[in-house]
Amino acid sequence: MAFYVTTPIYYVNARPHLGHAYTTIVADVVSRFHAMRSEEVFFLTGTDEHGDKVVRAAQKEGMTPRAYVDRISRLFRDLWPDLNVRPSRFIRTTDESHMAVVSRVLQRIHDAGDIYFSEYEGLYCFGCERFYTERELVDGKCPDHQTEPETIRESNYFFRMSRYQQWLIDHIAAHPDFIRPERYRNEVLAFLREPLGDLCISRPKSRLTWGITLPFDEQYVTYVWFDALLNYVSALGYPDGERFRTFWPAAQHIVAKDILKPHGIYWPCMLKAAGIPVYRHLNVHGYWNVDQGKMSKSIGNVVEPLQMKDAYGLDAFRFFLIREMTFGLDSNFSEAALVQRLNSDLANDLGNLFSRVVSMTHKYFGGVVPEVDPEMGRQYGLGLGPEALRTIAEYERAMNGFELHKALAAAWEFIGRMNKAVDVSAPWELAKKKATLKQLEAVMNSLLKGLRLISGLIYPVMPETAARMQKHLGLDPAAPFYLLDDLKLWKPVPAGTRLPKSVMLFPRIETDAPVPETAADAAPPPAVDIKPEIDIDDFRKVDLRVATVLRAEPVPKAKKLLKLEIDMGERRTIVAGIAEHYTPESLAGRQVIVVANLKPAKLMGVVSQGMLLAAGEAAGPVLVLPDKTVTPGTPLK
Ligand code: MSP
Repeated sequence: MAFYVTTPIYYVNARPHLGHAYTTIVADVVSRFHAMRSEEVFFLTGTDEHGDKVVRAAQKEGMTPRAYVDRISRLFRDLWPDLNVRPSRFIRTTDESHMAVVSRVLQRIHDAGDIYFSEYEGLYCFGCERFYTERELVDGKCPDHQTEPETIRESNYFFRMSRYQQWLIDHIAAHPDFIRPERYRNEVLAFLREPLGDLCISRPKSRLTWGITLPFDEQYVTYVWFDALLNYVSALGYPDGERFRTFWPAAQHIVAKDILKPHGIYWPCMLKAAGIPVYRHLNVHGYWNVDQGKMSKSIGNVVEPLQMKDAYGLDAFRFFLIREMTFGLDSNFSEAALVQRLNSDLANDLGNLFSRVVSMTHKYFGGVVPEVDPEMGRQYGLGLGPEALRTIAEYERAMNGFELHKALAAAWEFIGRMNKAVDVSAPWELAKKKATLKQLEAVMNSLLKGLRLISGLIYPVMPETAARMQKHLGLDPAAPFYLLDDLKLWKPVPAGTRLPKSVMLFPRIETDAPVPETAADAAPPPAVDIKPEIDIDDFRKVDLRVATVLRAEPVPKAKKLLKLEIDMGERRTIVAGIAEHYTPESLAGRQVIVVANLKPAKLMGVVSQGMLLAAGEAAGPVLVLPDKTVTPGTPLK
């Protein structure tokens, strides 16, 4: 069996960030999962390098487009090995072999009569050198230049996409999981309820030269999607390559919801018109937001994958991304949530289980896996065998259906079951008496078997940790220990195996947020001195807002002051006298309440545009925080 998976090819006008890393890690995870099934896997990623945006970005840097795309493309290519992501090929739309395929497919569709020449009228921004749709404009103006676009007429080539509308509707009806999860299939069907227009696929060379020349008209280049989407077949050596024959029938794409329409509509229609069979599945995921909002360079909240790796470890980062996001829905990224998962799922549930079982093997059996009498094994094997098979079945079902979070949840249920089994069987009690030695052997053997299975199940998401577990179970980390057919055999760690000393798989991250005093610990409340009554209008004068702390830093030479950058719908700077009680790290990403209409005041040379709300405890201020995360700028009432 073959398996072919692709990520979008990323634009080279931005550095790789969390969003790109997520999709590509997902592709790596599913590739490794299919390797667990002994399938032949081809995993494609790459960069999308043509178009006027690239030309403008290059000009800004004073570089030629060629030098510029080489530089940014390399950033992407070099990132993947650092994230333990192993694509089979990294494609670039500037590769000669890709450009030749685009040319060939364009010619073929043109010959078939599905590409025609026609006049086009649209709203054009000369600053951006591109057309805008009405919906993209803000108050009728270009969002970048704040100028009104001009209506211009231009002749261009069009792909007769409308011809394939009914065919696509029928195809989706006949293959209900063609686009998944279901919500995105429904979204595509909703688009298809409206008449599908034709697709403009060219730009005159007078305006854009950085692209692939149309084979039937020297004066034009292809524009965006016709070039980019075809990478999925050109990478396999379409039309004649052996790879194309092997892998294309098993093609699955992964994209986020932002490019659903090109992948769910344009691409199948293009394939149909070119006489190429359509892909198997389009797997669509949601967006990672940061602080409940869009990740953006201007807000300054772009998450750098390598920074996360350095701070928390690569496997913890990969685990968090896959476990936290329900594939298909949006998720919020925060370091606090990452630390929470690291401490609970990884350090506590998995890490503790592992070190407990390995340490006990050392303590009771000198680190050598004991021989078990099969009858004792049946009697005292903790019933983990049937549970293991159920877990593998659910894991396989979920992974196969791109419900990656559920596959991990199934593995963690099994880990939970094992932790309970340790507590219930209490090996430390069994070790006290000779009479229960056989029982102890059976219990420990079963627990080691369980760990062996877990190391296989976590392999796609945490390959390094899986190999470490193997090593510390005395097994060969370089062997393909993760094959599903082998895992299903529920094999023991062979008797006589010598285990290296136990290790801590995941160190806990200690958060230094102040621990609030509990009511019981606190001193008796001070006598309450309530201020004179006010009426509701007086209260309404105070504009209280929820804000997200983007960054915090000490104010030089001021022991008590922290300078906070906050997002309150707008960005502001606030100086707060909390430095002795809150560290800058503990505040970043948290939401606070701000008095938004307080007259600005200068504190130690920094202008503070508001004030934080805190309880004035004698021991020091305690910040007032919203119960749940809300949109920054939300007023209090
Ligand atoms: N070049 C086109 C794709 C052509 S594919 C034939 C493109 N490039 S892109 O650089 O903008 O990448 C978009 C993709 O990056 C998304 O579909 C998704 O895979 C990933 N993400 C970018 N930001 C993201 C988030 N904030 N969250 C999750 N994934 C996101 O579109």
